[in-house]
Amino acid sequence: MASTMLPEGTLNGQTAIVTGGGSGIGLGIAQELGRLGARVVIAGRKREKLEAAKEALQREGTQALAIPTDIRDPEQVQALVDQSVVETGRLDMLINSAAGNFIVDSEKLSVNGWNAVVNTVLNGTFYCTRACGLKMMELGHGGRILSVVASYAWTGGPKTVHSVAAKAGVVAMTRTLAVEWAHYGIRVNAICPGPTDTEGARPLWADPAEEQRLKAKIPVGRFGTVEEMGRAASYLLSPYAGFVNGEVFVIDGGEWLGKGLTS
Ligand code: HXC
Repeated sequence: MASTMLPEGTLNGQTAIVTGGGSGIGLGIAQELGRLGARVVIAGRKREKLEAAKEALQREGTQALAIPTDIRDPEQVQALVDQSVVETGRLDMLINSAAGNFIVDSEKLSVNGWNAVVNTVLNGTFYCTRACGLKMMELGHGGRILSVVASYAWTGGPKTVHSVAAKAGVVAMTRTLAVEWAHYGIRVNAICPGPTDTEGARPLWADPAEEQRLKAKIPVGRFGTVEEMGRAASYLLSPYAGFVNGEVFVIDGGEWLGKGLTS
């Protein structure tokens, strides 16, 4: 079992819903929350992938549930939230990690292509945030909401205009709800991972020359790991970050800052 920065038991007895929890950064966050004692509900579209992730979590000793959900459908999202509370008795954390993206020249992007990404990244994140926020208000014990964004939300990101626009919306939503919902005891933050070594991202640097080119743009000279993303997320979700609200926490080895003409 990997070690964690925060004391074991920090999140004992609490429930977290992690969308996109079947793989990649979402699963890394679910694993770290589990190590800290949380019960984890992972949600995603693909039942088999979710079940495999649930079993991996359970092998590490985490209490895990897998609930197949398409976050683009508000009724499925409501069912996810209701079932999570029925089965675990609580709802303390939502992690919005589900996303969809593809590289395309903007002039070739169809309306359906735009909608496929925006409906997942922006609308789906809102449906989950709304349903969980309302449930946390009803239960009356506060909560924490954390979304996974990307620095191209503010730098721009050629060939990913759909995802760029949607992630920028999620950043704006994070800062807005952090203010509106603080008096319910709900903190709303985001993490902003840089290039992270996941199965989903690896095809982007399958060519060794491309891997070299990408790593050269990252001041620390390597990709991030899902464990590093999980630890940053856990900090923001823990009481150690009780005064952190509306923050977008960048974990990218300095990648987005390295844009000077001489770099
Ligand atoms: C152009 C594309 C396309 C592509 C889909 N479309 N893929 N257009 N190039 N590569 C268009 C389709 O032609 C269609 O439009 C519309 O998008 C909907 O496609 P569907 O496949 O029907 O949509 P759906 O099944 O809902 O799939 C959603 C998706 C898909 C976002 C398109 O890629 C997906 O589910 N991805 C989830 C996994 C994922 O993306 N992970 C990476 C996220 S993080 P038409 O007009 O033909 O009907 C990540 C980090 C790295 O990527 C970031 C690097 C920049």
